[in-house]
Amino acid sequence: MRTVLITGANRGIGLEFARQYAMDGWRVFASCRNPAAADTLSHLAAQYPDRVTIYSLNVANHQQIEQLAQTLSNQAIDLLINNAGVYPPGQGDIFGKTDYAAWTHTFEVNTMAPLRMVEAFIQQISSSQLKTIITVTSKMGSIADNRGGGSYSYRSSKAAVNIVMKSLSIDLNASGIIAVLLHPGWVRTDMGGPNGLISVEQSVTGMRHVISRLKFEDSGKFYAFDGQVVPW
Ligand SMILES: NC(=O)c1ccc[n+]([C@@H]2O[C@H](COP(=O)([O-])OP(=O)(O)OC[C@H]3O[C@@H](n4cnc5c(N)ncnc54)[C@H](OP(=O)(O)O)[C@@H]3O)[C@@H](O)[C@H]2O)c1
Repeated sequence: MRTVLITGANRGIGLEFARQYAMDGWRVFASCRNPAAADTLSHLAAQYPDRVTIYSLNVANHQQIEQLAQTLSNQAIDLLINNAGVYPPGQGDIFGKTDYAAWTHTFEVNTMAPLRMVEAFIQQISSSQLKTIITVTSKMGSIADNRGGGSYSYRSSKAAVNIVMKSLSIDLNASGIIAVLLHPGWVRTDMGGPNGLISVEQSVTGMRHVISRLKFEDSGKFYAFDGQVVPW
């Protein structure tokens, strides 16, 4: 049985990853900040009691990451999905109104946590069959694609996680681990809003298809949910 560990699995794209992998017969370690309030995820776990387990994890809290790695120390993890992400609230990402505290937090969640997760779970990933790390980034972190300006903290946090994962892919090359960045599309979630171009089902179906076809040579690449390469 394949195993996936997902961060931010209580809503949006993370929840849909949990749902689709559970339906597909995978064992799902679904982590989220507040399991007590994760009603839809709890329903999923009740539907698949032998497949879906919920764990409490705030990815900005390194102690919690280490604790979860201890709890799961005997488990092989085929696929780690660094999905949890934040977009700075309100007007804080507009020139002249930059909220620097929110920017720091955005970096903690979007940029640093994905690396901390890999550092903590490297043994579980290394001992698995698929040895795959996915970080959900964004086209908004693409410097080549930036025609809209603004979104300083969000864009920089995603551009930064791109280079972090690129370095990681090189460092983990000898271990046979694949580390890939995925852009989910503009998705109708709390973050993407109602005008998003695709549903969570379309986004996650597409990303799972890309993940299922990954080869070792793909490590360090940046793909969109439809399989297209995204320019850095
Ligand atoms: N939607 C889009 O159009 C779009 C486009 C490009 C990239 N993305 C990326 O896709 C990923 C998922 O986004 P989404 O659209 O599903 O967003 P969402 O609906 O706002 O969900 C964000 C998820 O991240 C979790 N999260 C935030 N901070 C966390 C923390 N400190 N610890 C643990 N979990 C935390 C949230 O948990 P809580 O419920 O506890 O807040 C929630 O589960 C993000 O990385 C985002 O940047 C989304």
